[in-house]
Amino acid sequence: MKRIAVLGVTGSIGRQALEIIGAHPGLELVAAASGSQPIDGLAEHVQVGGDLTELLERAEPDVVLNAVVGFAGLPATLWALEHGVDLALANKESLVAAGDLAVAALRRGGGRLLPVDSEHSAAFQCLDGRPSETVDSLVLTASGGPFRGRTREELADVTAEQALAHPTWSMGPKITIDSATLANKGLELIEAHFLFGLPYDRVEVVVHPTSVVHALVRFRDGASLAHLGYPDMRVPISYALAYPERPSTPVRGLDLAGGLTLAFEAPDLETFRLLALAREAGERGGTYPCAFNAANEVAVAAFLGGGLPFLGIAEVVEETLGAVDGTPARDLDDLVDADAEARRLAERRAALV
Ligand SMILES: NC(=O)c1ccc[n+]([C@@H]2O[C@H](COP(=O)([O-])OP(=O)(O)OC[C@H]3O[C@@H](n4cnc5c(N)ncnc54)[C@H](OP(=O)(O)O)[C@@H]3O)[C@@H](O)[C@H]2O)c1
Repeated sequence: MKRIAVLGVTGSIGRQALEIIGAHPGLELVAAASGSQPIDGLAEHVQVGGDLTELLERAEPDVVLNAVVGFAGLPATLWALEHGVDLALANKESLVAAGDLAVAALRRGGGRLLPVDSEHSAAFQCLDGRPSETVDSLVLTASGGPFRGRTREELADVTAEQALAHPTWSMGPKITIDSATLANKGLELIEAHFLFGLPYDRVEVVVHPTSVVHALVRFRDGASLAHLGYPDMRVPISYALAYPERPSTPVRGLDLAGGLTLAFEAPDLETFRLLALAREAGERGGTYPCAFNAANEVAVAAFLGGGLPFLGIAEVVEETLGAVDGTPARDLDDLVDADAEARRLAERRAALV
């Protein structure tokens, strides 16, 4: 029996995880956390907000599913990695912000870091532990979001409601906006760099509107392995929670003869600036990825609150990245300072747009 802690249990990923755990006799929910919604009686150990590492200390889980949204998920990510507890990671923001610290904690702790993001789960399976020198490049696919094919002019007045209407995935509001701006793919690019130890010039992003191919790995011998499936987060959640068992899920297999379309195109980096900005932040390293994430969180909240136009999100992030010094963080305190400084700059900038 695997004892699971689900952090962010009331969210899109958290609720799907409950369904997976409920259907699997080998998985037991021992701890659950939300940010503000009541979850009394859901598990033996529950916590609403506060320091989630206290809940993890009490519950002693075998697997932590971190499905909190945003930088708030960071202490739980570092706790699991440091303690050698398997981490099923949906909260990509923590790995983006604290990549170097997280990789060091994973090495010290000796546990497993199992990606829940569908593209990274797919890449993890294609790579299957093969050494990085056998890999030529990794390709992450992006649906392109609801505004694929639009020009900058056409995006000037889009509303939060339009940006929240994602064509292929049903997700929480923050990641849905990130998908509309392509910031999500930028975060995933940085996430892939830290998860798989690949330099940025060997991670490519392509737009694939039907979201059937989740990732593809090109190997040095000319072979490529891809991971395919209908877009349904229950597949990667189940894979990470039950790893390496691969239990059955209610998700149907691909119907190839039914007219499956596999089309790909290059992302429009001029219109969707955040993908290019994320790559730049990743390549610069230090706390630039942390600043990218912090500024993006601030800008997305401002957009959802009606205080910033859609294109203002990239403007705020770009200005913030230009103003921070990006000094590498020696420890969590340094990182928290870098995050706070980027938020302060981003808030000031957002108020001016
Ligand atoms: N949704 C997807 O399909 C998908 C796919 C890939 C990756 N992800 C990643 O998974 C994470 C969660 O996404 P989501 O779409 O599930 O988000 P969501 O639906 O907005 O849910 C967020 C969850 O986090 C909780 N939370 C927020 N702040 C918290 C805090 N300070 N302490 C404890 N819990 C807190 C929320 O609790 P309350 O309800 O009480 O506020 C809620 O349970 C994100 O990092 C996202 O990028 C999501």
